[in-house]
Amino acid sequence: MNDAEPDDGESDDGESADGLAERRGLDDAVVYQPAEDSGLLAEAAVAEAHGRVLEVGTGSGWVARRIADERGLDTVGSDLNPHAARQARERGVEGIVADLLSPFRADAFDTVCFNPPYLPTDPDNEWDDWMEHALSGGESGRELIDPFLDDVGRVLAPDGVVLLLVSSLTGYDEVLELVADAGFAAEPVVEESFPFETLTVLALRRA
Ligand SMILES: C[S@@+](CC[C@H](N)C(=O)[O-])C[C@H]1O[C@@H](n2cnc3c(N)ncnc32)[C@H](O)[C@@H]1O
Repeated sequence: MNDAEPDDGESDDGESADGLAERRGLDDAVVYQPAEDSGLLAEAAVAEAHGRVLEVGTGSGWVARRIADERGLDTVGSDLNPHAARQARERGVEGIVADLLSPFRADAFDTVCFNPPYLPTDPDNEWDDWMEHALSGGESGRELIDPFLDDVGRVLAPDGVVLLLVSSLTGYDEVLELVADAGFAAEPVVEESFPFETLTVLALRRA
């Protein structure tokens, strides 16, 4: 689904539909496309989200779009990858280029969702492109989760909720420790097991 698809063969800025399609093909190669983890985060977010919503690391914008469509909530998607922010905008989501939570003001959101890059990656095997940014959680798998948890309380409204996807590959107990250190209580909302990992979406609320 893409509401931004021009039906007259031209986009608002006069670019041809062929040009858009070609650019989208390029973007698809460097933007994380919806997968099982995205589906699980969307399921949890549709059930739990309220108020103004931020999806950090929105990728294609698919999760944010589901929240907006199925809950009618005002939803923003942010990503470090400018191709992702653009793809989210093409999907009809307000897409912002941002490093984690840095540009957002205090108490700005009632719900913050994050499906982080979480694969533990040997530093000798890093490959340095946008897909690495989408997949690699550094040596521990938690290198993005840690700073995210340190700052998310700042942008979260007092009765806000954080929905964080955690893989067993990332170390479930280790993430729970980081969550507690950041002052949140965690409750699993949805969980699914696959041959190589179990994925859980945790709802985090101030302890
Ligand atoms: C596993 S993908 C999830 C994409 C999408 N939310 C989904 O569930 O399909 C992780 C996303 O986080 C983004 N990302 C990585 N580092 C980031 C950072 N420092 N700040 C914001 N987004 C980041 C990646 O570009 C990627 O789009």
